Amino acid sequence: MMRFQDKVVVVTAAASGIGLAIARRFADEGARLALADINEDALREQSAAFGLPADRLLLRRADVSEMDQVEALIAATVEKFGRIDVLANNAGVGSYGYVTELPIERWRRVFAVDVDSIFYTVRFALPHLIAARGNVVNTASISGLYGDYGFAGYNAAKGAVVNLTRNLAIDHAKDGVRFNAICPGLTETPATRWMRENEEIAAAYADRLPMGRAGKPEEMAAAVAFLASEDASYITGHCLVVDGGLTAATGQPNFKRIMPTR
Ligand SMILES: NC(=O)c1ccc[n+]([C@@H]2O[C@H](COP(=O)([O-])OP(=O)(O)OC[C@H]3O[C@@H](n4cnc5c(N)ncnc54)[C@H](O)[C@@H]3O)[C@@H](O)[C@H]2O)c1
Repeated sequence: MMRFQDKVVVVTAAASGIGLAIARRFADEGARLALADINEDALREQSAAFGLPADRLLLRRADVSEMDQVEALIAATVEKFGRIDVLANNAGVGSYGYVTELPIERWRRVFAVDVDSIFYTVRFALPHLIAARGNVVNTASISGLYGDYGFAGYNAAKGAVVNLTRNLAIDHAKDGVRFNAICPGLTETPATRWMRENEEIAAAYADRLPMGRAGKPEEMAAAVAFLASEDASYITGHCLVVDGGLTAATGQPNFKRIMPTR
């Protein structure tokens, strides 16, 4: 499929994990890319494998929690490519700790990276998205739909991403710009290595995940590409859950596993 031939796609936090897979997917489908990350070395190393010529790839060091850096990213993209068709807001950091123990700086950092970044990218990119009749796909999380034990900051921030996506969708539907989000469940990225490598946590996930495995970054990227494509032309304000069935369960015990003969 070459659904994004010559389209201009901006991806934030593109040097690792889900963002890297999103960038690779758009590259494979013919897009021209503007990739941003705070880790410029990793961004350069990882994107080299895409094999894109210099006139189809813009790499930029940007901390997307900083408004001026986002403004410069969007300006550089438009200067190089002249348009923006798709904006994939993938940057997000987590937090672990109850409200009673989470340092206030961490709470603020999570909101700055996960939520403020979307406010900034949309603010600066919107005129270009309107001109291109483009769309935005945010990386939210199932943690933005339900609560996790011990993840107060992350739950609050991703909840904000989900509802900001809905707000933007309705505010700008008449402008011809669609806004959607993916809500990944546990995904095999460096960010979740500590969970997946902890035996007890891995066993608890194995018990709860109906499909019996974590998702792959490429499976998240496929969902982003669908939402960004013309196949999703009548979909806006939607948060697509990509979690192997994790949130399809009520949380009640697995009776068949515990009492197989009953
Ligand atoms: N991995 C999962 O299980 C999972 C599940 C649900 C949602 N998500 C979301 O997916 C997104 C990507 O997560 P991942 O697991 O791929 O992470 P990752 O750790 O593999 O990669 C994160 C990338 O973000 C970059 N980054 C961090 N802060 C930044 C900033 N301020 N500005 C620009 N770049 C920044 C890092 O340098 C890194 O390259 C996040 O929004 C995360 O919340 C991940």
